[in-house]
Amino acid sequence: MEKMVILGGAKLSGEVEISGAKNSAVAILAASILVKGKCIIDNVPHVSDIDVLLDIIQGLGGSAYFIDKGTVEIDCTNLNKYEADYETVRRIRASSYLMGALLGRFSRARVGMPGGCDFGVRPIDQHIKGFKTLGAEVEVDHGFVDLRADKLVGDSVYLDVVSVGATINIMLAATMAEGLTVIESAAKEPHIVDVANFLNCMGANIKGAGTDVIKIRGVKELHGGEFSVIPDQIEAGTFMIAAAATHGDVTITNIIPKHMESLSAKLEEMGVIVEEYDDAIRIHMDDRNLKSANVKTQPYPGFPTDLQPQILTLLTVAKGTSLVTENVWDNRFKYVDELNRMGAKVSVDGRVAAVEGCEHLQGSPVYATDLRAGAALVIAGLMAKGVTEIYNLKYIDRGYENLELKLKSLGAQIARRTVDDNKSNAV
Ligand code: EPU
Repeated sequence: MEKMVILGGAKLSGEVEISGAKNSAVAILAASILVKGKCIIDNVPHVSDIDVLLDIIQGLGGSAYFIDKGTVEIDCTNLNKYEADYETVRRIRASSYLMGALLGRFSRARVGMPGGCDFGVRPIDQHIKGFKTLGAEVEVDHGFVDLRADKLVGDSVYLDVVSVGATINIMLAATMAEGLTVIESAAKEPHIVDVANFLNCMGANIKGAGTDVIKIRGVKELHGGEFSVIPDQIEAGTFMIAAAATHGDVTITNIIPKHMESLSAKLEEMGVIVEEYDDAIRIHMDDRNLKSANVKTQPYPGFPTDLQPQILTLLTVAKGTSLVTENVWDNRFKYVDELNRMGAKVSVDGRVAAVEGCEHLQGSPVYATDLRAGAALVIAGLMAKGVTEIYNLKYIDRGYENLELKLKSLGAQIARRTVDDNKSNAV
């Protein structure tokens, strides 16, 4: 087992390049299952969720490998199975996309219930509603979702809940269905647009991605091609917050500033200087106190739930009291106990956390409870006094490429150690 050791207090400064979006890349790799032909996908972050998905696709008979840094070659022409390995599927949330992709390819899919971070209940009723609307019979038994259809036929699906996963999954199943599928009340996250762009590049006919009505006219087949994944909005946001948290001066490159608007506005409200360029943002914070602010998570273009733990962490040292409301997930405040262990003053009542700003956090051993909570604890460690040790790094490794190397290049005092290396916590 490994731990991350951080000596807090260093102001981050310099330039950092953001990797491709993990949540987009996992959906695009799954979408490649629909393609008969070779796809070259660039800007793929090398994180463990991607490795798991590549393993699953290989297990289904496809060929899927990194051929260079950030580049995956994937060819599913000879994919010959519609049942994915149960244990592997349970390791990542994105395996839910196998349902839509395999159903679209074979009119048949048998996939274990997807795993992923634990934020309370993670239902898939909207995915199932979509598949049924397209003509599939769906049975859920013994941890498997079994889907079969004589043929898929387009129709209108109205989502009762704005769901990223259901929107993408229905899009995948509908790409080669007969006729027109209309998804109403669709999610609008940047990676939904990215998946639609990928499918269109390979010959699909999808219009309206990025709005709440997406129209998919089924095509007979998709062909191979090349595509580059968009930059990771959440990794970019994590670095923006880390820069502000250390009163640093950091330019974050390879990003789409438009995707960052809700965070940029919130940081400015807290007194942080945010300068936007074409494909970069500079974050600058002097030695003044941060101001408190209220944050409510919402589907895009609202404030992303995947940056909620990181912004809450920043608010622990802002002057005054802030309220953070989690509107997307039932239970995404598990990490708060860890922050309080570091001296934060956060109390949670249902979906609302009240954050009373304190002078500073104090370094301590803490445990990541999920991917973004892990990133939040790294930010807490960077701004705390003394040494913070973070355990459960497997969560962070699911979604951040070279996090500590990138932070180190900005001047952070951070290192990874094996846990039985007790000689020192020196960084
Ligand atoms: N929901 C339903 N029924 C469904 C599907 C979702 O009620 O059939 C509810 C969920 O319970 C939740 C809300 O709808 O309350 C939103 O869930 P959504 O389906 O949008 O989430 P997801 O597709 O499972 C993706 C990201 C998450 C991110 C959410 C919200 C991936 C692989 N995961 O999850 O990312 O939090 O969208 O933006 O894209 C992360 O990267 O750390 C992460 C957890």
